[in-house]
Amino acid sequence: MKNIILLGPPGAGKGTQADLICELCHIPKISTGDMLREAVASGSDLGNKVSNILDTGGLVSDEIIGALIKDRLSKPDCENGALFDGVPRTIGQAQQLSQMGVNFTHVIEIFVEDIEIVNRMSGRRVHPGSGRNYHVLYNPPQTEGADDITGEPLVQREDDKPETVLKRLEVYHDQTKPLTDFYRSLSQKNSLKFFQVDGLDSVEKVFENISKEI
Ligand code: AP5
Repeated sequence: MKNIILLGPPGAGKGTQADLICELCHIPKISTGDMLREAVASGSDLGNKVSNILDTGGLVSDEIIGALIKDRLSKPDCENGALFDGVPRTIGQAQQLSQMGVNFTHVIEIFVEDIEIVNRMSGRRVHPGSGRNYHVLYNPPQTEGADDITGEPLVQREDDKPETVLKRLEVYHDQTKPLTDFYRSLSQKNSLKFFQVDGLDSVEKVFENISKEI
């Protein structure tokens, strides 16, 4: 059983590494960012409620995230664990997950300085159907502008505009970064393994470092 959290600022490479780790560990990815974007794209009530929050870089309420996660964890593919990408994002969400009985085995922080984040975001391209991520320079698709698997067009995320990225970084430092100390201190009391990797390394090197630890 592996329940793994990926922590790190927006653009640190969580989504990129999440896909690789899920393949390695045979566990599903739970990405609240992907789930919320899907809700927006489908035009559901939830999507309409959160659309503006996503576009402006704020955080969706703990109540909404708690309900999404509870529902997702009830699916049979989570029986052997899951990879949590971008959740928890607040101490409140961490407490909710603990109350749901999720026992985390690993917490991985991908560390990247803020200055590098803004550069990365401007080059990110995404396949809307799957959430697969590319970067025009660092992780380009085989054919420019097209998803490697489906050949469908790639798009730029609305919240990757520089001013929104700065707001997301501010929210990260204020509300999510405290989770680093929260989980580091938990790891000193139980079998949870907490470790950090340098997100400035290449995608392959970051994955190699993570693989060694898990
Ligand atoms: P979410 O989708 O979770 O966004 P995020 O955490 O801000 O992270 P990103 O997806 O932007 O970046 P990433 O770390 O996954 O990096 P990536 O691999 O793409 O959330 C979006 C919004 O939803 C939030 O702002 C919030 O409003 C809401 N939300 C979601 N979850 C929530 C929650 N739990 N509570 C409340 N609200 C929530 O990589 C970035 C780029 O860099 C890519 O182009 C990639 O190709 C490239 N890259 C990756 N690794 C490397 C590398 N090693 N070297 C060079 N380039 C690299």
